[in-house]
Amino acid sequence: MHFFRDCIVICNIMSEEIERKKRVFSAVQPSGGLTLGNYLGALKNWVKMQDEFECIYALADLHTITVRQEPAKMRANIMEAYALFLACGVDPEKSPFFIQSHVHTHAELAWLLNCYTQFGELGRMTQFKDKSAKHADNINAGLFTYPSLMAADILLYQADMVPVGADQKQHLELTRDIAQRFNGIYGNVFKIPEAYIPKAGARVMSLQEPTSKMSKSDTNVNGCIYVLDSPDVIIKKFKRAVTDSDACVRYADGKDGINNLMSIYSSVTGKSFDEIEREFDGKGYGDFKLAVGEAVVEELRPIQENFKKLSADKAYLQQCYANGAELALRISKRTLDKAMKKIGFVLK
Ligand code: TYM
Repeated sequence: MHFFRDCIVICNIMSEEIERKKRVFSAVQPSGGLTLGNYLGALKNWVKMQDEFECIYALADLHTITVRQEPAKMRANIMEAYALFLACGVDPEKSPFFIQSHVHTHAELAWLLNCYTQFGELGRMTQFKDKSAKHADNINAGLFTYPSLMAADILLYQADMVPVGADQKQHLELTRDIAQRFNGIYGNVFKIPEAYIPKAGARVMSLQEPTSKMSKSDTNVNGCIYVLDSPDVIIKKFKRAVTDSDACVRYADGKDGINNLMSIYSSVTGKSFDEIEREFDGKGYGDFKLAVGEAVVEELRPIQENFKKLSADKAYLQQCYANGAELALRISKRTLDKAMKKIGFVLK
């Protein structure tokens, strides 16, 4: 009698242990040069979340070919991004970190989900509208169905939370809609994920055009800071940042340039907007821009140093992404099989 009671207690403890940690999944496209926006909007949270949650991260290389890529450059970008993410603090011992194309379940579930995603839903995606305007000569089907692949990435891992910048919120909402639709037909197959968006740094804007998002496709090189930019370049770009004629460091409507710099400074130093306003009370924009630039340089310095060491160790990188893919396949295959079985496929 006691034996059975003890077994039940142990089972309860074990299942609590298993259930306690929420699952986190996220991915970034390795499309050449990680930006300060990627870092503050997503990567910083990825690193922070590793101790509290069970995290799985990926380089979304399949997503990059919606825009034409030069093969050698694409391979170099993937390897650079892999090393850079480890340098930022993604720890493959804690969080499987893999390359999307190494795990075949992603493309397979994406196809299934395409058949549960409506044409109208995809047509409403702002990223599709923006990118098809920018690449009018190559509006391919992949660009259009890209959100179904992103939904597959997330749903395969039964993720509770997805750390992303604000620009991915719409894709996350569509992921939830697709999952709910599928579950509505077949029962509980997918966990419904929540977006996890940082308070500061969720939308880092271009330093030259502070009403648009900082992005590697920015035509003005001074608008975008890269994580691997040298300290000199970073300071120069911040010195040239567009501000306004108010000459007062305060967060207010219509002060897009200063608001952006304050958000960056807050995200990097952890200071609130009130603290920042007090710190720069009576000082000019020149002092403020320099302080933001220096804070960013200090934040990125250890990452750049780690990157130099890691990127030279190809064998270590290869071992990490091979292990990551093996684990990711094991986890994601369970979800894919379940979804296929529910739909009516005959499993091997
Ligand atoms: P991507 O590669 O464009 O961007 C990667 C992450 O960086 C964030 N981000 C920003 N955050 C703040 N300010 C900015 N200026 C800025 N620019 C980019 C993005 O919000 C994102 O979190 N579709 C995704 C990649 C992806 C994915 C996934 C993400 C593929 N599968 C599954 C989450 C889960 C993308 O293109 O992000």
